[in-house]
Amino acid sequence: MNKQNMPREEGLDHSLSLMREGYMYILNRRRSFHSDVFETRLLGKKAICMGGKEAAKVFYDTEKFQRKGAAPNRAIQTLFGQNGVQALDGQAHQHRKEMFMSIMSPDELSRLSSLTKKQWEVAIANWEQMDELIFYEETKEILCRIACEWAGVPMKEDEMKNLTKNLGAMFESAGAVGPSHWLGRNARNDVEKWMGELIEKVRQGTVKPPENTALHRFSWHRDLDGNLLDSATAAVEVINILRPIVAIAIFINFVALALHHYPEEREKLQSGDAKYAQMFIQEVRRFYPFFPFVIARVKTDFSWNGYQIEEDTLTLLDLYGTNHDPEIWDNPDVFNPARFANWEGSPFSFIPQGGGDYMMGHRCAGEWVTIEIMKVCLDFLVNQMDYEVPAQDLSYSLVSMPSIPHSQVVIKNVR
Ligand code: HEM
Repeated sequence: MNKQNMPREEGLDHSLSLMREGYMYILNRRRSFHSDVFETRLLGKKAICMGGKEAAKVFYDTEKFQRKGAAPNRAIQTLFGQNGVQALDGQAHQHRKEMFMSIMSPDELSRLSSLTKKQWEVAIANWEQMDELIFYEETKEILCRIACEWAGVPMKEDEMKNLTKNLGAMFESAGAVGPSHWLGRNARNDVEKWMGELIEKVRQGTVKPPENTALHRFSWHRDLDGNLLDSATAAVEVINILRPIVAIAIFINFVALALHHYPEEREKLQSGDAKYAQMFIQEVRRFYPFFPFVIARVKTDFSWNGYQIEEDTLTLLDLYGTNHDPEIWDNPDVFNPARFANWEGSPFSFIPQGGGDYMMGHRCAGEWVTIEIMKVCLDFLVNQMDYEVPAQDLSYSLVSMPSIPHSQVVIKNVR
């Protein structure tokens, strides 16, 4: 077999189809081509899309793929920022990733869990005073408080709403065009400027975050040449902690949605079985849409499954489609936490936050943080509060990225 045999989507450009079909774009074509890989054209250039376990394995092979020059500019301007860990390769990436993983210790995760509980207790006391509330908006703000406290970022109470709004805009605008994109861009500019100044103050000694925190560690992190990061890059990296913690609001809203749609799950969770709670959380991360795909560039020519893959080709790995791949998951479109009782545990088959290895590759640095926070929130929703879900439009789109239930989950009569 040679290069000509790779299934190819004909036409000049399919960026619009990607926008129109969203999470299903790659999966739809994998199905119609009966192939885990196909060639297309995106952003005016040749691109490859792939999905499934074997595709994830090859995508995370750092001899074959690199991240330099892969992320589209509009994502850098909103979601990622310039010169962050996401765009690094090789030793520079590993060294920077170590900085991230150094704050993910068991002690730090348990500190995170305690302050998540504390913030939920405060929030519930407030919610009891309200008739009804928009759960998505509320959870973003709780998470912003948790993120700042955990990362050692000092905040005044009257700044919290604005920071929540700005961090939210960065990921809510990631797939957007037009005004929403510009909102995300402005939000990033504002937060980066403020964070850069904060890092300067840490270095001058006028702000003293605890030593174990991201603000402290990242402010004093030295690169492979022994230099401190420039303050703009350090700011991007602290924001790489704050922004995605706020984004956990999306998963928490899907937790609430799953509890509403599958009331039998609530009963199982009330038994307090920690293993089942973990399986439920994994299934929420597998089932609901969040990050659609990740992007890299081919580092050097190689052949795979008989296809010749050319250096520099833009390549998308389908995260959502791999989590819904019938080759990996029985009845992938059924919500079934019990499937995780027998899950094979491969780092390439269940990839809501990327796959492969944390240190060697780009797998999400915050996966444990995400699970820890989701566990605490699930326990509150199931065992520590009562609430009602009034009639509303709880449907969610498989097109807009990221996807959030349309009503943003209104709840009422919280007790
Ligand atoms: C809210 C749920 C989250 C989702 C769906 C998510 C998803 C992802 C994905 C898909 C990637 C890229 C993987 C790749 O490029 O191969 C990633 C990378 C990353 N995530 Fe997350 N993430 C989440 C939460 C978090 C949290 C809470 C943190 C920090 C506390 C975090 C920090 C990072 C960092 C630093 C990277 C870059 C890693 C690297 O390039 O080596 N994420 N995440």
